[in-house]
Amino acid sequence: MSILEGSIGVMDSGIGGLTVAKEIQRILPHEDILYFGDSANCPYGNRSAQEIAELSRKMLRFLGDRGVKVVAIACNTISTLVDILTPDFDFKIIGIVAPSAAYVVRSGIKRVGLIATEFTVSTGNYDKLIHQLDPEVQVTGKGSPLLAGLVDRGDFNQDDINTEIRTQIDNILSRDPQIRHVILGCTHYPIIGKNFEECYPELSFINPALEQANVVRDYLTERDSLAQEGEGSFTICTSGDPEVYVQVAKRIGMKEPTSTAHIAL
Ligand code: DGL
Repeated sequence: MSILEGSIGVMDSGIGGLTVAKEIQRILPHEDILYFGDSANCPYGNRSAQEIAELSRKMLRFLGDRGVKVVAIACNTISTLVDILTPDFDFKIIGIVAPSAAYVVRSGIKRVGLIATEFTVSTGNYDKLIHQLDPEVQVTGKGSPLLAGLVDRGDFNQDDINTEIRTQIDNILSRDPQIRHVILGCTHYPIIGKNFEECYPELSFINPALEQANVVRDYLTERDSLAQEGEGSFTICTSGDPEVYVQVAKRIGMKEPTSTAHIAL
């Protein structure tokens, strides 16, 4: 596996961050992307803050040791801890919650649902970042203890997945029936975006992946660090089964990985 210095690092507790890597690949086609997904320890969303921070530091060290120029923490769960993680590293780290919150407010949405991991919802990080920009937005969040784990196995059993989607979204709607927009606040969920849309055709589901990719592009543009030519490489490293990543990348329409590796964290 050859990794080029100056790659964009993308990390997630598992396969979910491929949804962000896909957008980076699309808007920055010359960039090399180095992805790390910690499927051996996924789901993170049912763990303590301390455990999540420890596992995340290992991933950040792995990426930092390979000379990344910036890291996008695709995982919402890890991103809620971005302020705690950032001081330990000398490269730029960009979380996903802030770009997502900014998008909601920019779009003028006044009542928004949030489906995410139990950890993400319990931190109140989405509420905080949205309210810093517009205190009047009403956020109704619900954590799913199951969905990320179901998706990360790469076993897209429609019945299990749809039952869990209905349980959690019904809960949100029972608390605020006027909601028409729901944030997919876990990177694993856009992979099964069609399931959400089929279960609730009247709702619009927000995938924050492109928002985060735009922030990465803006950061590199400001620093004059954008790759200007070449066909960007796409390296996948995971503590899980690389084949699941290859299949999911294909399922969501990404270009084929240049190389893959199993790495024990
Ligand atoms: N993909 C992660 C997120 O965006 C969470 C999945 C997990 O629980 O590990 O929150």
